[in-house]
Amino acid sequence: MAAKVTLTIDGREITAPAGEKLLWAALDHGIYIPHLCAFREEERPAASCRLCLVEVAGFRAPVAACALTVAAGMVVQTRSPRVDRLVRQAFALLLSRHRLACGQCPRNGDCALQEIARRRGLKLRREPLPPLDHDLPVDNSPATFYYDPGRCVLCGRCVWVCRHRAGVGAIGFVGRGLNRRVGTFGDVPLAQSSCTECGACVSVCPVGALVAKPAP
Ligand code: FES
Repeated sequence: MAAKVTLTIDGREITAPAGEKLLWAALDHGIYIPHLCAFREEERPAASCRLCLVEVAGFRAPVAACALTVAAGMVVQTRSPRVDRLVRQAFALLLSRHRLACGQCPRNGDCALQEIARRRGLKLRREPLPPLDHDLPVDNSPATFYYDPGRCVLCGRCVWVCRHRAGVGAIGFVGRGLNRRVGTFGDVPLAQSSCTECGACVSVCPVGALVAKPAP
């Protein structure tokens, strides 16, 4: 049996398997920490969305719970003025590049951004950061799904599953800085790339960027 460690989150003592990441240990015990980019099976999460920040005693700055391994005696606070401010900023950054038109989105009501906003009392409004709309065209070339970069929040989940679960690696990050986006090698349409249309990316997209087409 795997060794267990005991730690404290928000004043509650919990046990978790040794080696588990703090995010999953908390969620397993019904303690909510917002998260978007991480997968449980990732050994070294990119921790790119910065939504899962928590305070850990002994750490000077908030840390990403998805990338921190639990330790015996660890004392964690999921909320603090500092954490709340940083999470609010990270959320605003995600929204700045997400075309907010929930009424026209197929994921309306089943969207990670909406859930995080609801659970953390955050506004689904594109402020104070200016919107980063690039008016990139929708890639409608696959037979079974489409990709709308205007809704993509660059969480990287699709990139990770395409490489590590599907073993294909058809998509990756292209461009730099504000022009960073998910694209194919050579920036060709998905149908002309090595994409096999397995649907792995669609199944993990937390927003309405990768969307299955209705069966013909
Ligand atoms: Fe931890 Fe995204 S879930 S940084």
